[in-house]
Amino acid sequence: MHLTTLTIFTFVMVTVAIPHRRQTTEQSVQLIFHGGPVQYSWGLLANGTLQSTGNDLIVDTIDAPNYNALQNCQFITDNDKTLVGAFSSTGVPQITVGPPQPIRAVSCQGVCIPTFGDCFRDGQSLGTCCAGFCAANKCRSFSGSG
Ligand SMILES: *[C@@H]1O[C@H](CO)[C@@H](O)[C@H](O)[C@H]1NC(C)=O
Repeated sequence: MHLTTLTIFTFVMVTVAIPHRRQTTEQSVQLIFHGGPVQYSWGLLANGTLQSTGNDLIVDTIDAPNYNALQNCQFITDNDKTLVGAFSSTGVPQITVGPPQPIRAVSCQGVCIPTFGDCFRDGQSLGTCCAGFCAANKCRSFSGSG
């Protein structure tokens, strides 16, 4: 009798727990790879999995409009590279790739705070802004639209 009740209880708990486990806060990362005048858009989830871009474009600049990709993403290339953070003339966060080369795969992991999100509360930092800086408790964009 006891065992049956325990079994049913356990079953109910497991059933209830499963949907909650899927509620992870994996962010969707949007990247735009530029090689001179050519570009391609590509997205992935920030779930720590290495994902192949499947594109041979020789990339010199990566736009990362909605995620702090320089800190939270790993870019796989065939040869050594240097990644430098910058901002476009319109304030979009960018990564310059030197020397330019194909980006074979990317993995991103971590949560950042979107523009207009709270980045500071009760005297405590809540995290890193995805695309800009923290001012007056909110994430702001460099582009003026935030
Ligand atoms: C991460 O997300 C990608 C889709 O962007 C998916 O293919 C992959 O299986 C996911 N990995 C995990 C560990 O959930």
